[in-house]
This record gives sequence, structure tokens and C-alpha cells, in this order.
Amino acid sequence: MPDNSDITKNLLDMYGRNDWVMNLNFRFFLSFSGLKDLPLDSKILDCGCAMGHLIIMLKSFGFNNVSGLDASPEMVESAKKITGSPVILSDVVEIRRHFEPECLDAIIISDLFHHIPSMDAWEIILDGCSTILRENGCLIIREPYPIFLLNLLYKMSRYKFLHFGFLKARLRSFIEEDELLKYFFTHWPNGYRDLLSKNGFRIIKDMDWLVHRITSCRRIAHSR
Ligand SMILES: C[S@@+](CC[C@H](N)C(=O)[O-])C[C@H]1O[C@@H](n2cnc3c(N)ncnc32)[C@H](O)[C@@H]1O
Repeated sequence: MPDNSDITKNLLDMYGRNDWVMNLNFRFFLSFSGLKDLPLDSKILDCGCAMGHLIIMLKSFGFNNVSGLDASPEMVESAKKITGSPVILSDVVEIRRHFEPECLDAIIISDLFHHIPSMDAWEIILDGCSTILRENGCLIIREPYPIFLLNLLYKMSRYKFLHFGFLKARLRSFIEEDELLKYFFTHWPNGYRDLLSKNGFRIIKDMDWLVHRITSCRRIAHSR
């Protein structure tokens, strides 16, 4: 299910700024996750790609087979225009419908699971990713994590006078997404390792960075 209109409006504001904070953070993400080290012809899907800024960065590094998927029509329109790459309009829960089995080398899920408040849906998504990734393909997950900076921003979000510049939409998102984040932090941190292994993924790197945890996985051979 796509986000409600208030969340989408705030995200359109945030990604529309295309600011240095976002781009620097993406740059670190691509290095730390190992994505930058993949062969340049890797077939990569960015799920919940928003306006496609990560796709643009991947293309700037020479990746020539990158596509996106997002549930918001406004995001998909912008991403198609900005990136010139294929971008599918779909709920990520339906991911399996859009691809042949074992056809992708890497799937990115960045800041998306916390928009989906259902353990069952997470499981369907991971099962879908496992089906459409080739053996040993990469699943890279980046989600908010309650480390020092995130907790600090959470607290700062209560003070409206701090809602300016690049902080504005970011702090607002803690308010708009409060219920989603509560669900996420209650269920994801203790459950994601089991969910990943149950759906055929081996974690090869799991690290905290600023306000996120970056988890890089490989799809192990199917036993089904
Ligand atoms: C916080 S943004 C993340 C954007 C980008 N991946 C990043 O890391 O900065 C979440 C994105 O996920 C999309 N989204 C939310 N729910 C979704 C769903 N069920 N299926 C697909 N996309 C969804 C939103 O439209 C939005 O573009």
C-alpha cells in the first residue's frame, strides 16, 4: 500500500530538494554496502526509489542496468523523468509479479520496510526478492535504527523552530511517520535476521551508520 498523502507530500518536499546531505549519505551507502564493487553491468533494482536520486548516482558510477519501483505515482513520474530509467509503479509487496525468477543481480531496499507496518508483508517481500534474485545475488537493506543520531533527531523533531532548511522535511518525517516507526522498531530489530535467513539470505555485513543500519546479504541456493 502506498503512503498516505501527508507522508508522500513531505517526502516529495524532501527528495525534491536533492540536497547535499542526501547525496553524501547515498555515496557512503553505496561504498559501505558493497554495491559500488559490483560489476558495472549488474542488473540492479531500487525498491522504493522515490525520485530516483540513488539510481542517478549508480548511473554516474557507470552502472548501466538500473531500474526502480515505487508505489507513489508522483514519485514514479519524477523518477522516470529524472533518471531516464525504467521505473515500475507498484506496491513492493507485488514485486514478484514484475520479474522473471532469478533475473536480478542486486536489489536495494532503502528506507522502505519501515513504511510497511506488517511482518507478513515483510515476509512476502523478502520471499519475492529471494525468487527474483539470482543465486548469490545481493540484497541490500538500509533502514532507520535507533542509534545516537536518530534518537537525537527524534527528540529535535518535537521542536517546530528547528524545522528549517534541510532539517525541515527530515524532522517532519519523524512526526508524520511516528506510528510507522513505532511498529518498525517494535518488530524489525529483533526479527530481521530470522526473516532474512528464513527467506534464503545470508548476512555478510551489518553495520550502523548515522541514522541507519545497513545490511548486505547474499541469496543462498534455493532448496525448494
Ligand atoms: C523514505 S522514501 C525512501 C526513498 C529512498 N529509497 C531512500 O532511501 O532515500 C520511501 C519510498 O518508498 C515508497 N513506498 C512506500 N510504501 C511503498 C510500498 N508499499 N511499495 C513501494 N514503494 C513504497 C514511497 O513512495 C517513497 O518513495
